[in-house]
Amino acid sequence: MRRRVSLASLFGAALLVLTAFAQPASAEGTSKQLTDVIPIPVDAKPNPRADFRLDPATVIVADRNARQVADYLGGLLRPSTGYRLPVVSRGGGSTIELDLGPTAKVGDQGYRLDTDRHGVTIRANTTDGLFAGVQTLRQLLPASIEAKSVQRHARWVVPGGSITDYPRFGYRGAMLDVARHFFTPDQVKLYIDQIAQYKINRLHLHLADDQGWRIQIKSWPNLTAHGGSTEVGGGAGGYYTQDQYKDLVAYAASRHITIIPEIDMPGHTNAALSSYAELNCDGVAPPLYTGTDVGFSSFCVDKDITYKFLDDVIRELAAITPGKYLHIGGDEAHATTPADYQTFMGKVLPIVAKYGKFAEGWNEIASVNPPVTTVPQFWDTDGQDAATAAAAARGNKILMSPANKAYIDQQYNPDSPLGLHWAGYVEVQDSYDWDPATAVQGVSENQVAGVEAPLWSETITDNHDIEYLAFPRLAGIAEIGWSPQSTHDWNTYRERLADQGPRWDAEGINFYRSPQVDWK
Ligand code: ACM
Repeated sequence: MRRRVSLASLFGAALLVLTAFAQPASAEGTSKQLTDVIPIPVDAKPNPRADFRLDPATVIVADRNARQVADYLGGLLRPSTGYRLPVVSRGGGSTIELDLGPTAKVGDQGYRLDTDRHGVTIRANTTDGLFAGVQTLRQLLPASIEAKSVQRHARWVVPGGSITDYPRFGYRGAMLDVARHFFTPDQVKLYIDQIAQYKINRLHLHLADDQGWRIQIKSWPNLTAHGGSTEVGGGAGGYYTQDQYKDLVAYAASRHITIIPEIDMPGHTNAALSSYAELNCDGVAPPLYTGTDVGFSSFCVDKDITYKFLDDVIRELAAITPGKYLHIGGDEAHATTPADYQTFMGKVLPIVAKYGKFAEGWNEIASVNPPVTTVPQFWDTDGQDAATAAAAARGNKILMSPANKAYIDQQYNPDSPLGLHWAGYVEVQDSYDWDPATAVQGVSENQVAGVEAPLWSETITDNHDIEYLAFPRLAGIAEIGWSPQSTHDWNTYRERLADQGPRWDAEGINFYRSPQVDWK
């Protein structure tokens, strides 16, 4: 595809030379191509004679239903252009138009983007689609569009032509572990802004683990007062009040991202067990834990108080979570017998349903024959798990996060200053070169819900660290989740990835300059 586009633009460049005097506006030309975008669009038809140049008189046209996306777009473009870019309900001249209405082929998350010399029109059936189109437009502009101050000498040219684009999978997620190290609401919001530009539409927050409980539960206040008071390494930890969590949910929604909260259970529960002695089988609260071992804690499966507690937790969490999914963990329950695990999940899954939600869980949950609405999240490394395949055969959709590909907390190589390596070293090409439709034996394309890039936080403490592990790998996972498999090609991907470097520099993102990419 890339070569076809290159030929087209060469042809276009020749035309530009021939017509430069007759059509001065065409001389605005850009070296950018319509496919120089991550995730690569489904279909692009370039028209090199139809480049558009943003100017001080450009307006953003949007009706009331598209206003939120228009305001977001204006907020992106104003700092670096210095243009007013007012949002108006109708206008002629130089325009960026956001048009919400029936749009063929693109479904409920896709969009059409048409650029000619007068402007850009993004059309979609939904505001999610418009927002996705805005992310594409952003990448079609020069990298300096991301600068936070006015770039006086920049030429804000968008390449001419049409894009029709829609995702391969509806679920394209990132996960942030706020339990091993706590991240403040502002730190999470920055990550939300960063992942939104790659059309990620789910943020899974790992809110409770052995080292910390991070969400206020009003009926069990010691969970946060005590259980939230530390983290890996013994730092002060922290937690979100329900109001702060609701604000995070709303902020994510403004970036067209749904928050999926996780309370891991029955293992990974030391912070809760330490907060309430009665949750322990022996009635004795263990001390808080600040190490990085796994698999040593378990809720007491035989006690009624365990399910009273979980009913309260799930009820309060469901009430402040508008998304349909609650993640109940279920991984590495090595301190729970298999029989107890079955009993436990058999009691907890109905509580999730009682509060109107569907469950997500790590792939171990597939072993309990959960309802078909439950989404097992595959995190193994060997591409096979009989229980996951059996769940898929029963109708459960599987979320793909194979740890040796999609775990963006793994080190890139033995010298990486951050990250773990229990699943291997995961260089940029490793994280990009896989196919969700063949990642797990017995699970095919139509049984896949989507992909997710988990970022565990044993070794990271701030946004600088988050960025180093997430970028560039998150961009590759996002492309795998959005773009058709027919476009998958490391050699052309690494060229498009190189183009992201100046963007990340302009955004202040601390990315890993992998030697596998010829960074610009
Ligand atoms: C996991 O990495 N324990 C899901």
